[in-house]
Amino acid sequence: MKTLRLQLRFLLPLFIAIAGAAYLGSDLLDRLTMRWFTRDLNVRGAAIASALTDTVGDALSERRPARLQALFERATKDERLVAMAVCGQDRNPLRRSPGFPAELSCREVEEIARREDPRTIVAGGPVHLGLHEITLENGQRVSVALMHDVSFADVRTQTTRRYLLAFMAALGLLVALITMVVAQLSWRGWMKGARSLLRGEGLLLPPGDGNTAPELEPLAQDLRERLRDLEDEFRRAQGMETSWSPERLRHLLQTQLRGDQVIVVSNREPYIHDRTPTGITVRRPASGLVTAVEPVMRACSGTWIAHGGGTADRENVDAQDRVAVPPGHPDYQLRRIWLTEEEERGYYYGFANEGLWPLCHVAHVRPVFRESDWLQYQAVNQRFADAVVQEARGEDPVVLVQDYHFALLPAMIRARLPRATILTFWHIPWPNPESFSICPWRREILQGMLGSTILGFHTRFHCKNFMETVDRLLEARIEPEHATITYGGAESLIESYPISIEWPTPQTVASWAPVPQCREAVLQRLQLPPQTRLGVGVDRFDYTKGILERFHAVERLLEKYPEWRGRFVFVQVAAPTRSDLEEYQSFQDRIQRVTQRINRRFGQPGYEPVMLLATHHEHEAVNELFRASDFCAVTSLHDGMNLVCKEFVAARDDERGVLILSRFAGAARELREALIVNPYHVEETADAMHRALLMPEPEQRERMASLRTTVQEHNVYRWAGLMLADAGRLRLRDRIQARVQRHGEA
Ligand code: G6P
Repeated sequence: MKTLRLQLRFLLPLFIAIAGAAYLGSDLLDRLTMRWFTRDLNVRGAAIASALTDTVGDALSERRPARLQALFERATKDERLVAMAVCGQDRNPLRRSPGFPAELSCREVEEIARREDPRTIVAGGPVHLGLHEITLENGQRVSVALMHDVSFADVRTQTTRRYLLAFMAALGLLVALITMVVAQLSWRGWMKGARSLLRGEGLLLPPGDGNTAPELEPLAQDLRERLRDLEDEFRRAQGMETSWSPERLRHLLQTQLRGDQVIVVSNREPYIHDRTPTGITVRRPASGLVTAVEPVMRACSGTWIAHGGGTADRENVDAQDRVAVPPGHPDYQLRRIWLTEEEERGYYYGFANEGLWPLCHVAHVRPVFRESDWLQYQAVNQRFADAVVQEARGEDPVVLVQDYHFALLPAMIRARLPRATILTFWHIPWPNPESFSICPWRREILQGMLGSTILGFHTRFHCKNFMETVDRLLEARIEPEHATITYGGAESLIESYPISIEWPTPQTVASWAPVPQCREAVLQRLQLPPQTRLGVGVDRFDYTKGILERFHAVERLLEKYPEWRGRFVFVQVAAPTRSDLEEYQSFQDRIQRVTQRINRRFGQPGYEPVMLLATHHEHEAVNELFRASDFCAVTSLHDGMNLVCKEFVAARDDERGVLILSRFAGAARELREALIVNPYHVEETADAMHRALLMPEPEQRERMASLRTTVQEHNVYRWAGLMLADAGRLRLRDRIQARVQRHGEA
């Protein structure tokens, strides 16, 4: 109905236009036909007059009026020629035929005949008048006045006009009909496209993927942006409503997950016991994963299964290879898995870190895939799956599988504990389908991961890449609007959960030394003059972290802005990592060489602009360094999230200090108030460092305050909370489905 009304709105003006055209057309037609007839009758009249020349001459010379009368009678037998007269040179009528009106003089005839429209009304009918001069044989010049009946012309014009109107009306109807059909079709297509957009179809896919009609693409674009905004607003509002804390997470576990057992599986353990010359020490590893998951485990209790890699780990477990942690005030159990050297080489160094790690990071290091590593990877995943089954107290525990070391684990657990809720979180980026396809065991990896109930990534972009990869490589049902993949009869939710850190409690913050004191302590320890301006970088010594590019930027800073020479020092903490791998060794050597070169170039006695501290630093030392610095540079070439930047923000309760952040780190999507750089663009990073060193305090405060609000709200309890809330929802759905099925069968 609405469409019809809309179409009428369009058709009405169309009809008016056609009627107008028909009206103007008929008027034009009148004038044209009149001209044709006039010309015709003039030619005809001239021919008749000329044909009558001799007869008129004879009749006049012999003065035999009867002859002329007979001629008139003959001539006016023509149905159109109704009357005629012969006029003398002085325009006096010499003779008239009977129908020629007595009151019509030859002069009047001449006058009318000269007009553009030589028609007039005689005896109630329309006639055409013509006056044609002829020269008789004796040289006398007379005129023949001819009166033609033109009522037939009017009849013809009327008929033509009727045809024209009928034609125009038919044309109008045809045009209207075609318009209505086309409008109806395109309206329906448009409505269908718009409705499917509103249902969210195609919105998760990138623009130009062919799913959305091109004319609707701008609308889709707007909708995508609006949805993103709404989701951010929604999540922000959720976070503000009650901020996420250990208590809230515990409450969620007890209510939505009915206090079910939580088991975490990761390769890296949260506490490492090492034997040192001074006795056994407990070390916290440099791992974003551990930093994030450990507070969650403290809140959830439960069991964490991980590789026991410390030199004194075996001496610190019970008969079931368990140790209660954190040491001193235990909250949960750490179950250690022992790996042989061969297993560690194949599964950890080989397949995970020489294969999957470079495969998933765009850092221009080639992945290496060896059959022997793959076999170890499968075997170790199976060993961890066995451990999960051993540790499970019931048949439906909540298992949190962490990272790329365990891509096969979800399906292995699912095979043994079909009712378990398996949440897999992939802490590193997921590449595009082309890149991933170079893995020889790509299908097996995807099949393994799709054993998960929920598969989490840091960003929506990684979720999209994963879905596209599955689409390319497996026969699975993908529903982008619900973010689900159904494979082998089981459904997995693919969702983004940006990971974060534990926001320091007021008690923790109170235990920190004030910022000026931290500066003093750090400068003293590093033997730097009191006024030195400090930039810091804290990373694992990994080629994905952009340390080389960062150093190049420091070099460019000193080159371009010489005022910083002697006044600025960049301190890089680089925790040794995966040093058994050649790629890492050569990278670390290279960084050492570049450091020396820059220091040779810009150093002076007692001053080295780059300080490379390639040793493990505990959290407290890193925190002090963060508080002492003017800026922190995180220039990863590719990073799932990166938690160092969030820890820097958490450390700055004084709301000073500037964060320089790579746009290729997942965190750049959240921490917009940082100075965002492309780490490959050395000039840009150098300028950002210069800007950071000169940034006025009010601007620093404004940026830092906003960053702190974001990280505080989006803390790690929220990360775990959102994931566990989704798990709770799915468990509830499964329980209801099972109940409905039981009723159905009963
Ligand atoms: C990244 C990975 C973690 C890993 C960490 C440290 O953050 O996502 O899974 O634990 O690096 O690496 P490492 O090999 O020392 O555990």
